[in-house]
Amino acid sequence: MSGGETQEQRRAQDLRLRFQALHEIVHAAREKLNRNTWDYLIGGTETETTLKRNRASLDAVAFRPRVLRDMRKVDVGATVMGHKMRLPICLAPIGSLESFDDEGGVAAMRAASEFGCALMLSSVSTIPLEDVAKAGEGFKIAMLYKRGDDAFLDAYVERAVAAGYDAFCLTVDSANYSRRERDIANRFVKPWRTGGGADWQAALNWTDIERYKKRYDLPIVLKGIATKEDAHIAVEHGVDMVYVSNHGGRQLDHGLGAMQVLPEVVEAVAGRAAVAIDGGFSRGTDIVKAIAMGADLVGVGRMLCYGLAAGGSAGVVRMLELLEEETTLALGLLGATSYAGINPSMLTNAAPVDPPHVMSAFPLLRRRDHTY
Ligand SMILES: Cc1cc2nc3c(=O)[nH]c(=O)nc-3n(C[C@H](O)[C@H](O)[C@H](O)COP(=O)(O)O)c2cc1C
Repeated sequence: MSGGETQEQRRAQDLRLRFQALHEIVHAAREKLNRNTWDYLIGGTETETTLKRNRASLDAVAFRPRVLRDMRKVDVGATVMGHKMRLPICLAPIGSLESFDDEGGVAAMRAASEFGCALMLSSVSTIPLEDVAKAGEGFKIAMLYKRGDDAFLDAYVERAVAAGYDAFCLTVDSANYSRRERDIANRFVKPWRTGGGADWQAALNWTDIERYKKRYDLPIVLKGIATKEDAHIAVEHGVDMVYVSNHGGRQLDHGLGAMQVLPEVVEAVAGRAAVAIDGGFSRGTDIVKAIAMGADLVGVGRMLCYGLAAGGSAGVVRMLELLEEETTLALGLLGATSYAGINPSMLTNAAPVDPPHVMSAFPLLRRRDHTY
């Protein structure tokens, strides 16, 4: 190594050697986190059916690759809502980032900025959104759980605008907090779930969206749309991004997998808003499937946390580098030099080869001496 390298560059190089496949990052996160935090991270609601269906819905899509198209240069970059990105990935909002790395949102923002992807910051965060914004440049979205009256929401939006956030997000799949049975069984009481105000979130309805659009120019994202009907209403309300999500299987149990919902939402939105999706996305092929199906942006929740736990902000960058490499290879092997060359005709249905599980994207983990 040359003497001119900074400490960060050396750390990045170390992590490139240490983590050569995504499952190695997941494994390192498992080693680092205690049982309660691990179960909180990977778990879902009750039977975890929605959680498993997220993976099942991705694994039920197969590719129809095209060949002989000169694949020497493949570009996996994208522009989403006017923001140029190295990969169309959004680090999804996580209401407890500090439990995976002390620097929480600051580390995530630094990683998003260094790599070139978006960050959506949860309001359930001990580090103020202003401090997170200062940690890096780039596409950032402030996500709020409404815990007070309209003045509470206005104050948060105004802080987000002042701090330079590019959009505001309401998470709309959380009228109440679900029963996460891993946490219940562990008697795990989340230290960050303090204070009241949950009724304000439960009371959210379309008049709040109307009110927001009248008051603010800052683009709004609705996260947690799971039907074409709500996608239609969202677009009618002028919502700028419709975000298909079931909260990583952590809210309503027995829903459909997110990828299964995507086609009807893309059709309902019909290009009038950006479309984002999350839920089980773990591989480059997963990203390619969603973009081919019409999504603009893919959220990663647990993958962000694995990266953070495994190596702080450099761990997240390494996770993104591996996703980028996989995406580049997948796109090239599918026969497209950019996302402009892929569409639903390159996808078809197929039976998954493995039983779905929160870890089924990483079959090599099974060889390890751990329960996941
Ligand atoms: C530990 C954890 C905390 C989360 N906290 C929030 C949150 O505060 N706000 C929110 O909108 N979604 C939250 N989510 C959901 C994620 O934003 C995202 O929708 C989900 O993790 C996507 O699925 P994936 O983990 O399979 O990528 C959380 C998810 C996890 C795993």
